[in-house]
Amino acid sequence: MIQLDLQHAHLKEDVKSYQEQVNQIDESLRLKTCKGNDFIGWMTWANDYDKEEFARVKACAKKVREDSDVFVVCGIGGSYLGSRAAIEMINGLYSQKKPEIIFLGNTFSSSYIVQVMDYIKDKDVSVNVISKSGTTTETSIAFRLLKQFMEEKYGSEAKHRIYATTDKARGTLKALADKEGYEQFVIPDDIGGRFSVITPVGLLPIAVAGIDIDEIMRGLHDGMGEYGDADLEKNPAYRYAVARRILQNEGYNVELFVNYEMQMQMVAEWWKQLFGESEGKDGKGILPDSVCNSTDLHSLGQFVQDGKKILFETNLYVDKPMLDMTFPSDDENMDNMNYLAGKSLDWVNKMAAKGTLQAHVDTGNVPNIILTMPDMSAYSFGNMCMFYFKAIAMTTLMNDSNPFNQPGVEVYKKNMFKLLGKE
Ligand code: PA5
Repeated sequence: MIQLDLQHAHLKEDVKSYQEQVNQIDESLRLKTCKGNDFIGWMTWANDYDKEEFARVKACAKKVREDSDVFVVCGIGGSYLGSRAAIEMINGLYSQKKPEIIFLGNTFSSSYIVQVMDYIKDKDVSVNVISKSGTTTETSIAFRLLKQFMEEKYGSEAKHRIYATTDKARGTLKALADKEGYEQFVIPDDIGGRFSVITPVGLLPIAVAGIDIDEIMRGLHDGMGEYGDADLEKNPAYRYAVARRILQNEGYNVELFVNYEMQMQMVAEWWKQLFGESEGKDGKGILPDSVCNSTDLHSLGQFVQDGKKILFETNLYVDKPMLDMTFPSDDENMDNMNYLAGKSLDWVNKMAAKGTLQAHVDTGNVPNIILTMPDMSAYSFGNMCMFYFKAIAMTTLMNDSNPFNQPGVEVYKKNMFKLLGKE
């Protein structure tokens, strides 16, 4: 369970004064009467998910792990960020596990695309193309290249190495997958892209990365209970949502997601999409940004400490690191580092976090929210998903906006299609 500590947020309003509004919104989520009510399948997904398909995801992952050096995941936004966040958080950044997971379809950068295609050319490859609409241009460009590459390399066997995750009935990718005979996995109608890491969108790549997806579902399921009470005293996800609301009332329009683990940086990217796309609309919302400390204390740390008071920080602490070691002693001590000999590296990291908190709160006057997760396991990832899902749904509905649409992302596409000459 994620623990929430608001004592350094210095809120000027009482969280409990929002209980009535929270009760109403919570009821509208339960009764499915809220804005965007046809996209709240994630709330009960840990009970409702298709068990037969879940078993197929595991079987498919097993096959890919046996016959592939590289698994290319082709998708963008919600069809990409969640699985990458989970894989990096749980396995770390230099996992030796096979196959290697590579992401494509998430950019127009020719340099990146050509380099990836070159990197995989002599390897055994499987591909997972993921798109709900089937018309996302970044994904479609990459998948055409991958499809041709796979057919050239494997001939008629290519179709046994390509997996499509898409809508159950409609769309360009669905039609293509039917025609080619690819094994298919379904993106549920009532779960939007940025909530879809808990569906085959995320679970297939995560399982291919050798992660126990039963544990992800177990964490998610426990989160349904732990973050399921409307009572603000019992629900840290809703308390976090209300704290954000109060801080925005005080004029803080930027939320900095702070973590101290390199392997959590993609979690921050996933969180930015989840919060930014859900809340940033109707001229409202808090801008989500992120730092990975202590690395970024040597860059953005200056702004946080001394710059314009536009932001608050939300720290995501991890109790138990994935790995740790004891700092060694040195007979000569030329670097003067013997004062740390015998201490664990994680202890040093935690002291850095503690010192930073004091500096930012006491001297910098920056409100800090603290979230603590027990570890970076698959269970904790699933549990964290439910925490953030519940929090952002509550916060956005408090703004009277629809948390589950993203009308703003269509505008650039219209202009781009015109420039590209698309009919
Ligand atoms: O949150 C969302 O819905 C978006 O980020 C989509 O996931 C993203 O645009 C990809 O869309 P699609 O899965 O249709 O290719």
